[in-house]
Amino acid sequence: MLLDNRVLNDAGHTVTEFVTHRAMNRPAMGVPEPIRYTRTRVMPVDLEALREQRRVVDGPDDPAAISFKMLRTQVMFWLAERGGSCIAVTSPGRGEGKTTTAMNLAIHLAAEVDYTVLLVDANLRAPAVHEYLGWPGVRGLSDHLAVNAPLEELLLHPQIGRMVVLPAGSPVLNSAEMLGSRAMADLVAEFKTRYPRRVVVFDLPPVLQATDALALSKHVDGILMVAAQGRTHRRDLARAQSLVGFDKLIGVALNRSTG
Ligand SMILES: Nc1ncnc2c1ncn2[C@@H]1O[C@H](COP(=O)(O)OP(=O)(O)OP(=O)(O)O)[C@@H](O)[C@H]1O
Ligand SMILES: [Mg+2]
Repeated sequence: MLLDNRVLNDAGHTVTEFVTHRAMNRPAMGVPEPIRYTRTRVMPVDLEALREQRRVVDGPDDPAAISFKMLRTQVMFWLAERGGSCIAVTSPGRGEGKTTTAMNLAIHLAAEVDYTVLLVDANLRAPAVHEYLGWPGVRGLSDHLAVNAPLEELLLHPQIGRMVVLPAGSPVLNSAEMLGSRAMADLVAEFKTRYPRRVVVFDLPPVLQATDALALSKHVDGILMVAAQGRTHRRDLARAQSLVGFDKLIGVALNRSTG
């Protein structure tokens, strides 16, 4: 079933659409000088390959990139208005574009805002950020939560603007418990207080598949819901929105839009 603006607007929330085009000119975007990390390990990524694969869209005239810029602006406004710095990206079901949205949003935030951006892969069931960035087998969030691995050993700097990544880490069985744990709450509190000019973007699992997303959503300030045009059912979107709660909902990002 197709989603349209009317349906999304009826819910009283912002609609942000982004589209992807396969054959676009993609000149490199001017990014600010990367900040120097004294403790964060540098882990370069092949940005050109990511652009080729359309995993990253950041060309100045690319309609998808322009949509991400708008999304970034909306998120920053929302955070400025409400206060807070931690947002989570989720969706009703699998494969609707959460990781793609979270990663590109983080890249756009990191490129043009005077903030450091931390992208956290909190989809411990089907982690993908490390895969998309070409970092197989890296440790991350689960290693911190399970065996208290020090954060500074886990954070990676991909040399994309002011962006730092906390990958998901080693596979775990009890992901919902981990994400709802005291250790996770402490970690989010530390993210919020220790680094004043930082935005944290969590990539979550789907809301309707497991309790993980809801467990983590307790700790964040805002939630961005992704819906895939032609794929996400209205009733699933409505259910996911009401489960996370309208109070924290930043809006719905309509992925795979053709408009
Ligand atoms: N707008 C888009 N246009 C084309 N392909 C897309 C788009 N958004 C996502 N994809 C592709 O769809 C697949 C799933 O996307 P993504 O991994 O972002 O979804 P997800 O919601 O994070 O999935 P999961 O539920 O497994 O975490 C990927 O191969 C991605 O490249
Ligand atoms: Mg994902």
